[in-house]
Amino acid sequence: MKNWEQDVKKVLFHQEEIAIRIKELAGAINEYYGDKELVLVGILKGSAIFFADLARELSCPVMFDFMCVSSYGSSAVSSGMVDIKKDLTTDIAGKNVLLIEDILDTGNTLHELLPILSERKPASLKLCCFLNKPDRRQKPIQADFTGFYIPDEFVVGYGLDYNENYRNLPYVGILKRNVYEDCE
Ligand code: XMP
Ligand code: MG
Repeated sequence: MKNWEQDVKKVLFHQEEIAIRIKELAGAINEYYGDKELVLVGILKGSAIFFADLARELSCPVMFDFMCVSSYGSSAVSSGMVDIKKDLTTDIAGKNVLLIEDILDTGNTLHELLPILSERKPASLKLCCFLNKPDRRQKPIQADFTGFYIPDEFVVGYGLDYNENYRNLPYVGILKRNVYEDCE
């Protein structure tokens, strides 16, 4: 049986550090929204684990919804186009929406997605990303809440995948280059 951990070059954030940071992040979100009702919109699939952990630390009333958009396919390079595979079921008009993303990389996905959501006239639209790679940004997208800033490395675990694998690793690790270079 394959040992997925052997493909990880270095652990960036251990499970315990992630839990601590998520509590801090939730504290900032709780403070910002107070007792306002919030629609948490998770971008599938990468944000699933972060979404579940963060949601349970929030004290404001929250509703859940999810979108599935494709940007990368199975490659490690952004296409700059967003294709909505699954849309929201909630009408977000007049609602406070907090978008939950796994990682803000080039910003191309959100550059396309944010205007689509804004057109639906939410009362507010903010962005919370678990990871943020500022060195890679191609579009001027900024997160309102960020878990961790990371260097320009391809990372997996805690929801993040390569070719749909590694999502269930409980930590965030840098993927060995040969894993994705051999596949190209
Ligand atoms: P952009 O470039 O549009 O990309 O900001 C956002 C999406 O790209 C994926 N992505 C990654 N996935 N490890 C991953 O597992 C990474 O290092 C990485 N960088 C970008 C991710 O799906 C994200 O939502
Ligand atoms: Mg992905």
